[in-house]
Amino acid sequence: MNERDSEQVAQMLIQRGHTITLQEHEADVVLLNTCSVRDLAEQKALGKMGMLRALSRDRPIVYGFLGCMAQSRGSTLLDEVAHLDLVVGTQKFHRVADYVEQALERKLAARFDDVRFSIVDVDEEEDSQGTIRDHVLSDRQVTAFVSIMQGCNMHCTFCIVPYTRGHERSRPLQEIVSEVNALVAKGVKEVTLLGQIVNLYGRHEFVSVDGKSPFVQLLAALQEVAGLERIRFTSPHPIGFRNDLIESFGRLPKLVEHIHLPLQSGSNRILKAMHRTYTAEKFVSLVDRIRSVSPNIAITTDIIVGYPGETDDDYARTRDLADKIGFDNAFIFKYSQRKDTPAAKMAQQLPDSVKEARNHDLLELINSWAKRRSEPYVGTEVEILCEGPSKTNSARLMGRTRGNKIVVFEGAPRHIGRLLKIRIDRSTGYTLYGEPVSQ
Ligand code: 5AD
Repeated sequence: MNERDSEQVAQMLIQRGHTITLQEHEADVVLLNTCSVRDLAEQKALGKMGMLRALSRDRPIVYGFLGCMAQSRGSTLLDEVAHLDLVVGTQKFHRVADYVEQALERKLAARFDDVRFSIVDVDEEEDSQGTIRDHVLSDRQVTAFVSIMQGCNMHCTFCIVPYTRGHERSRPLQEIVSEVNALVAKGVKEVTLLGQIVNLYGRHEFVSVDGKSPFVQLLAALQEVAGLERIRFTSPHPIGFRNDLIESFGRLPKLVEHIHLPLQSGSNRILKAMHRTYTAEKFVSLVDRIRSVSPNIAITTDIIVGYPGETDDDYARTRDLADKIGFDNAFIFKYSQRKDTPAAKMAQQLPDSVKEARNHDLLELINSWAKRRSEPYVGTEVEILCEGPSKTNSARLMGRTRGNKIVVFEGAPRHIGRLLKIRIDRSTGYTLYGEPVSQ
């Protein structure tokens, strides 16, 4: 989501004649879009901003924090970071270009360095969910993120997002379909629909039709977009993952065989404390129903270890459940106390050593399942959408299967942007390696 929001800001700056540089030392404007989901992310952003101060030795530079940390800390960031000029929250990304230009102008006009002009805008804005809609597409880019809603009303006790992103609000279906049509006209073949709680898209704005939720209606509308090959979405909540959505995986060929379905914990006691409103048994039954419609679907998840009061027994239940389900992959998070959230105020906060041990233990299990889920592909042919050079070795190309497995292969430039068959000859657990099948 942050990547997507940053893209919107970049697009608006480009439109006004600015250019994006990959070299920090060339920049006149430095904007860091921030994440608040864990303290580590905030510390990294603050550290990076501190390091970037050195750039302003030779010339005036505009520095800005955008996004969630800007939203939750607001003007206090100006006290913490002396060289900061802009603090722009999550509903004001579309204002960044204006603010950057104002700040640049004032800085260049100012004769002395110690004059400080700061702009803080962390207000709410009605319909800001409709402002994340423009794209910066690189040459032969075939995948794109599409933001379909903002905010979240769930209030899981550990989570800062409802405070930084505001309440749930969705974009009109037709606007999203138009955006996807425009992307496809520019060569995009795969879209990932983004929302904090994506399967609840439109629940406050639109009605169900023939037992189909607004989200399922959107998926069905996108199925009809000619030239679009694949539809992904992230992240859904197990609550509201109803039969109409499950059946879509059997009904809509463009919907890929992958679901990222955050579990958070396998202990009913902890799930309840987290306000997750489902039980471990319900989660298992949801996964069973999904697999009965789409047997080889890849399921990935998010798990938090070390939630306040999590006992060895609670953790063992999480581990057992992860083992029972056999996730294709998982992001494991050590619980991090977040400002103003109910869990942060609970007694029984656990020491980092406990969180670390559980994280390490669970990671081993997740890695071994990732291997088990990847190995069956060795010796088979898979369809990938080739995205471009591999990040770890730019001499090779990479793409993803419909199940979101990364495939690396020796290819030719003509493969970029195409759907192609790859014969897999090796797996390292998270990455598959192979060769294009000559067609
Ligand atoms: N501490 C650790 N992990 C968290 N997440 C959200 N809030 C916290 C927190 N306070 C994780 C959840 C969520 C993912 C995006 O981040 O697992 O699904």
